[in-house]
Amino acid sequence: EKGGYEHFMHKEVHEQPKAYQDTMRGRIDESGKKVVLPDFHMTAEQIKNIKNVQIIACGTAYHAGLVGRTVIERLVRIPVETDVASEYRYRSPIVTPETLVIVVSQSGETADTLAALREAQSHGAHVLAITNVVGSSIARDANDVIATLAGPEIAVASTKAYTSQLIAFYLLGLYFAQVRGTQTEEQVAETLAAMQALPEQVEAILAREEEIKGYAEKFSSHDHLFFIGRGLDYAAAQEGSLKLKEISYIHSEAYAAGELKHGTLALIEEGVPVIALATEQALIEKTVSNIKEVKARGGEVLAVCYEEDAKELMKSVDEVVTIPKTLPLLTASLSVVVLQLLAYYASLALGLDVDKPRNLAKSVTVE
Ligand code: F6R
Repeated sequence: EKGGYEHFMHKEVHEQPKAYQDTMRGRIDESGKKVVLPDFHMTAEQIKNIKNVQIIACGTAYHAGLVGRTVIERLVRIPVETDVASEYRYRSPIVTPETLVIVVSQSGETADTLAALREAQSHGAHVLAITNVVGSSIARDANDVIATLAGPEIAVASTKAYTSQLIAFYLLGLYFAQVRGTQTEEQVAETLAAMQALPEQVEAILAREEEIKGYAEKFSSHDHLFFIGRGLDYAAAQEGSLKLKEISYIHSEAYAAGELKHGTLALIEEGVPVIALATEQALIEKTVSNIKEVKARGGEVLAVCYEEDAKELMKSVDEVVTIPKTLPLLTASLSVVVLQLLAYYASLALGLDVDKPRNLAKSVTVE
């Protein structure tokens, strides 16, 4: 059942190219230039009337929601907030019938997410669920569903479900942009072409596993580690940090790169590993200056970046892992694969139970 892999997580990381393809299939028209969402119920009128979006989820799905926020804001220019379900419910959220609420859940059974969905509906909001289980409680109760087609995810650490959720957000953002006219046809076509290249680009990252494994083994003897990045790199950093903590039990923190100097830079000492995501082209210079602050304190920096930036970055960091180039909007779909592999190989190096980490359940049905 593990199809020749030693662990489900490893198998599921490798299933991502297929999960990306399956989640896109039938949702891009034959010309390749337009998103079609055949099962989507919102009318053009309703979509045009959306005043704000709230994305609600837990854990890894919440991290997908952080990417979703940027995707929708950049493509559609509607204000979006992303919140964890257990917080959202208790802050008397301001929801109106013109609020679109998006709940994200792999299992579709997470108690807090389900309760948040009901809270939002009680205020008249239209609730869209992005879920991997179409027969789940969340799918049944939602007003609309975009199914991620990642296939069953067995490992407790979510991988292909997260990346499929990102694909769902890209599709949704583009669809709204078409309806509201916030992107030109050419822009939509360009993004769709870049999305269709992602599966092959993920394969290219997977082909470099041995190299990534080497880095993971190196830092796995440390007790603390930092992830830094700006923009979508920061969103991906947060997911990478959770993945590492979950299965390797190494303490890590994800920091917005510019925020480090507002406190925790004090924790960067000689030899502390720092994984710096530096793919957001518009922000790369700023990220580099933050990397220099880390280096000045003795941190050991591994950068995740594009090939074309590797040479320049090597002037400031200790090592680089390069990823294929994509559009700025799509970067997390590639960088996160490196972070998943780092977490996997760190857990393996420490001899831990990768698929069933302590104190975690695959589906959390208590609040
Ligand atoms: C992390 C992980 C959890 C889940 C969270 C939400 O790898 O799996 O953080 O993402 O419990 O679960 P779903 O998406 O099923 O609502």
